[in-house]
Amino acid sequence: MPRIPQAFIDELLARADIVDLVGSRVTLKKQGREYSACCPFHAEKTPSFFVSPQKQFYHCFGCGAHGTAISFLMEYDNLDFIEAVEELARRAGMEVPRENGPGHQDTQKLQRLIAAQEAAANHFSENLRRHPEAINYLRQRGLSGEIARDYRLGFATDARDHLIRALSGSFDEQELLNAGLTSRGDSGPPHDRFRGRIMFPIRDNRGRVVGFGARLLGSGKPKYLNTPETPVFHKGQILYGLYEARKASPRLEELLVVEGYMDVIALAQFGLRNAVATLGTSTTRDHLERLFRVVQRLVFCFDGDRAGHEAGWRALEQALPLMRDGRQIRFLFLQEGEDPDTMVRREGPERLHECIRQSRPLSDVLMEGLRDRHDISSREGRAALGAEASRLIRDMPEGLLRAQIINELAQLAGVTAEQFEHGMGQRETDSREEPARTPQPPRPAPIARRQRLEITPVRLALSVLLDQPSLARELGDTTWLGKLNTPGVQTLAQVLETLGQHPHLTTAGILERWRDSETGRHLLKLAQWRPPPSEEDSVPQLLQDALKRLRQQYLQQRTEDLLARASRAALTDDEKAELKTLLASKG
Ligand code: CTP
Ligand code: MN
Repeated sequence: MPRIPQAFIDELLARADIVDLVGSRVTLKKQGREYSACCPFHAEKTPSFFVSPQKQFYHCFGCGAHGTAISFLMEYDNLDFIEAVEELARRAGMEVPRENGPGHQDTQKLQRLIAAQEAAANHFSENLRRHPEAINYLRQRGLSGEIARDYRLGFATDARDHLIRALSGSFDEQELLNAGLTSRGDSGPPHDRFRGRIMFPIRDNRGRVVGFGARLLGSGKPKYLNTPETPVFHKGQILYGLYEARKASPRLEELLVVEGYMDVIALAQFGLRNAVATLGTSTTRDHLERLFRVVQRLVFCFDGDRAGHEAGWRALEQALPLMRDGRQIRFLFLQEGEDPDTMVRREGPERLHECIRQSRPLSDVLMEGLRDRHDISSREGRAALGAEASRLIRDMPEGLLRAQIINELAQLAGVTAEQFEHGMGQRETDSREEPARTPQPPRPAPIARRQRLEITPVRLALSVLLDQPSLARELGDTTWLGKLNTPGVQTLAQVLETLGQHPHLTTAGILERWRDSETGRHLLKLAQWRPPPSEEDSVPQLLQDALKRLRQQYLQQRTEDLLARASRAALTDDEKAELKTLLASKG
């Protein structure tokens, strides 16, 4: 993927006002220096979602959602990074430049690829109208014309080159091959990839057709064919029906995750327009992250047989690290041999709704799965259970769900919760990066509860700089920070260096430079800091104080270092003079 130059992102963030952007999707109310709203990312009655025009940053004290204008578009419109930048640029009337060579050509190629899919989708739906055998097949499976239209269902005829003939005026042979619409046999010219099949166009977040699923009209093999991987079609990421589900209801609260295209369509026919399916692959973490950007509640439907239960367990393993409080996953295991399509047609939507209501929470499935897998009547069995559980729980986000699961697991294993957690080993957290050492300086306004960090001078300095980046200009020489040995100080030094080179960078601009890195996540948390209203005027002073303390630490370290060296060998004259000054200043 061609890289977007950082300078463009800086400029984009400076021009695209986050208040405008968020305001175009959520009703904002001015409140002091910020704007507030009920959080669009979780259900709430009183506003805990804030947008800061000064930082170009949003954050929610309720669910912890936070980020820049780019993050907002990614989360709210369910876009990936590039798409979000493009959308933001479009709003600001800017053209996205690309680094690294023929970026422009790449973009054009992608556009051609998608244009070919769109043209094919039109061709297939046109075919459907003209072929009674295909219409009959869909009728016989209980589908109406309305559903066929909403999901843009189509038909590929038997002919070996029907699509090729239809599109040859607009796309050349190579383009159709690249788009996965044709394939080349051992000999002879390419032929249509999809023949004698019902076509399910698969759309991306923006509704563009990026590929197809295709089912044989009759029996035969393979029953389903998919578009192969192309630059716009990645099976492990796309969810069939997600675009349609979002379109059907702008305020989705729950998504059903089913296994097949026909399940999605059949459920839609019965009024459940919130089903999505993976494309014949098991559920990936990427899928789950995409789904959780849209809703907080997922219900997985699996076949009730052994394979279904195994698939369920795999989905559960993928999901645990994403289960922050507020998110819910439930599992519905159908009767053996049944899928949502057959079930809804036989027993009706009411019965399915009932089953969804009674589906089992992830934590139940987890506990029961662990009990089934181990012999809890022996100590050894309980220890084995504990070991497997630790592996599963270790990466769960901190929170009430995790705490409850740990309590229960500890009881099962016959130890205390502390012992259990201890046995689990350390989690990856930011607190490791910078252990608490220093006493508390003046207390800043609350950071989102779950994310409260110990306030050290380094963190305080970073928080203030993220609140008012322009203060960096008043600091003078800070290069000594690079020589200070204290956790996290390198990040501070880097931020100051960045601000030295780009003095007009916004908070959002700083944050985007560290997107998707551990440091970036740390900075995002610190960016949620706000000075308490009574101390707004003394913010520059807070920064000065923090740096003064770091400077003291530095001088202390330098003194100790020189003294230690002096005890081993002679110091240079310069060093001697420096040590003398250092000792004198300590007085
Ligand atoms: N699948 C696939 N290739 C196959 C079989 C299945 O890619 N040869 C994927 C498809 O995404 C399909 C899903 O797995 O939708 C579920 O397969 P299956 O349960 O066999 O099909 P159904 O969706 O139930 O289709 P139908 O009811 O039409 O038989
Ligand atoms: Mn089926």
